[in-house]
Formats: sequence, C-alpha cells, structure tokens
Amino acid sequence: MFPQEVVGALKKHKTPFYYYDTELLRNTLQQIKSEGIDRGYRVHFALKANHQPKILDIIREYGLDADCVSGGEIKRAIESGFSPAQIAFAGVGKNDDEIELALKTGIFCFNVESPQELEVINEFAAKHNTTAKVALRLNPNVNAETHHYITTGLNENKFGIHEDDLDNVLEALPSLKNLTLIGIHFHIGSQIIKFEPFEQLCKRANDLNDYIESKGHTLTSINVGGGFGINYDAPNQSSIPDFKRYFEIFSKSIKLKDHQTLHFELGRSVVGQCGSLITKVLYTKSGRVKNFAIVDAGMTELLRPALYQALHNIDSLTSTKNEITYDVVGPICESSDTFRKDLDLPELSRGDLLAIRSCGAYGEVMQNEYNLRPHVQSLYSDEI
Ligand code: LLP
Repeated sequence: MFPQEVVGALKKHKTPFYYYDTELLRNTLQQIKSEGIDRGYRVHFALKANHQPKILDIIREYGLDADCVSGGEIKRAIESGFSPAQIAFAGVGKNDDEIELALKTGIFCFNVESPQELEVINEFAAKHNTTAKVALRLNPNVNAETHHYITTGLNENKFGIHEDDLDNVLEALPSLKNLTLIGIHFHIGSQIIKFEPFEQLCKRANDLNDYIESKGHTLTSINVGGGFGINYDAPNQSSIPDFKRYFEIFSKSIKLKDHQTLHFELGRSVVGQCGSLITKVLYTKSGRVKNFAIVDAGMTELLRPALYQALHNIDSLTSTKNEITYDVVGPICESSDTFRKDLDLPELSRGDLLAIRSCGAYGEVMQNEYNLRPHVQSLYSDEI
C-alpha cells in the first residue's frame, strides 16, 4: 500500500491525516458486486462506518444502497446521490425531527426497534398524510462472539423487538393505519470473524419469516444487517474480506420466498482496510521500563484502541533501522491514549512517518474535538 513514491507524496502533507487507497476500495466493491449484488442481494452501505463524500461517491458507483442511523446521515446520503428509495433508516432512538425528515424524504424503510416507536412513527405519518414503510428489527438472541461493546443481538442488549413482544406487535399493526409492514431486520453485532453466528442468524430469520407470514403478513424485505469483520492482524495479506464465502453462507442458509429480497447493511468490511491514519513521530523517549514513540495523532483522531482495546497494525513508512520495542502513544493527557504497547518497530526518530492501518471504518467518523484539536484532512491515493 505504501511504495516509495506514495511515501514521498505523503511526506508533503501536514500530519496527522487519513489516507484512503481508492484502488483497494474499488477492488473490494467489485467483489461485493460480483458475489452479492449480482446474486440479486441489496447491500446497503452503513454510513456510520465512513461518511466522506468521495468514499460515498465511489461506493454508489458499484450499486450499493445506503443504511443511515441519523438525520445527518440521511441528508449526507441524499447529497451524495443515493435516491430516497435506497435508504434504510435504523437506530434505537430516532428523534422526532429525524422521523419527520425521513417521512418527507420518502425513504425505503424504517427499521423499527420497539413497539412504542411503531406508534410514534404511525402518528407522524398520519400528521403528514403519508404511509411509512417499516421493517421490524427483531432481536434473534444470537451470540456474535465479538467485543461486548459491539454485540447487539443478545437478549441483554438494548436493540430490537424482543420475541415476547412480537405477537402483540403483529396484532397491533393493522390498527396502525399509516404503517405498512414490509420486512424484518436483524443485526447481531460488528467485527464478526466466525461464520457460525451468521448461520445461526439465518436459522432464526427463517423461523421468524415463516411465523410472521403464517400470521397473514407479507414480508418483501429480509434484512440480515452487517457485522462482517476484517483482519486487523494482516491488512496486507487479507486486504479484501472473503465476500464469496460470506454471501455463500446466506445463499445456502437463508430461505427466501419468491416475493422476498435479501438485504445487507455492511460497513466495516467495505471500507475498513482501505484507510490508514498517517501520523508523525514528535518525540521518542526512554522511560524506566519502556521506550515511547509519541506521535501527533491521538485518541481524538482514532478512538478505537482507547474505547475497544482495538489493535491496529502500525507500519513504519520512513525508518528501516533495526527494530526496538515501543509503546506508540498519542499527545492527549490520558493513559488510554495509547495505540499499541510493546510493538517492535524500526528505531524511530523525530519526524518519522507511521501508518496506523485498517482505519477506514469507524476511524475518521469517530474523531472528536477533545482538547480542542482540529479535524484532520483526508487524502486519496488517486489525488496525491
Ligand atoms: N446495521 C446496524 C443496525 C448497525 O448497528 C451496524 C453497526 C451496521 C449495520 C454495520 O456494521 P458493520 O458491517 O460495520 O460491522 N464503532 C465500532 C463499531 C460499531 C458498529 C455499530 N453498528 C467499532 O469501531 O468497532
């Protein structure tokens, strides 16, 4: 990803910044298209993973739809050229303004997370003299076996409508005159690297699909969410996730009826590997027990290590000296502002450049202004 001419070009820019390899993004999207979209599946890109306009432009070119979780994301999707009919709107706490915006925009579907939310959307739809298309987000109680902060499909999680409430919801739906039930929706978690949880999800989805249709409802959309993980340990060897195997699991295990389309909401697996955070070494220092490389990016630019103990690979772009063991840390006054501990890297000096890898998803979007730090620039491989 970083041949000498790229490093030369990167050196000219003020650090820290996000750098996106658009060729890798395109190759990833081509796989999603040929393995998923060309099978007739609809793949919504989860804007929460990355909402840079240029990234969205490229994603849209390959025929993906959009998955939004806020009014801001709905606006961004529309500005980026997605049509309202491509937008699914998810989220456990949609506020009144967001519901009204989605109704006025005429989006594809609301993924609804509670019985009360159905009533509220119905009220707003009646007020606007329209009908809202809804999918029920059901909590399948499948363990995604991932970090507990990004597990969403268990009974103890706040997401989705619990099975115990399903009958009441189905009975209430005919009286909610301004709603049309079009589907069911699931999302069991993120960074899922085993395939079994997806197989289990398919089984639950099949049962619930049969059950709801047996009660006289017609479901045209079966949405199995996102969650497909990436290989943070080997971004060069596994730069594109195994979409063939992923989509084959669903193709084999999900039982669609003739009138049904399968939808996905992928975020991380689409954009994760194409982005890196480029940072400069400000200082090196040897403590009593550690060598520190203090870099100019911090938890403000990449929150994942501090929040989820995430381990991102770090490449040295400029030093090729013998290796030394470092803690790579940011400038923020918190000990959690640490990217890696005990990492072997070529000996570093002030001014050396590092690439923190696999940052294309939930990297730039989660940056914040803590310590009044400015937002960083994004650079693209086809523009430098
Ligand atoms: N659909 C729903 C309803 C979701 O909640 C999410 C992610 C997705 C789709 C996309 O999931 P993906 O394919 O990207 O796994 N900030 C965390 C990840 C939070 C994921 C939240 N929901 C991180 O940095 O790991």
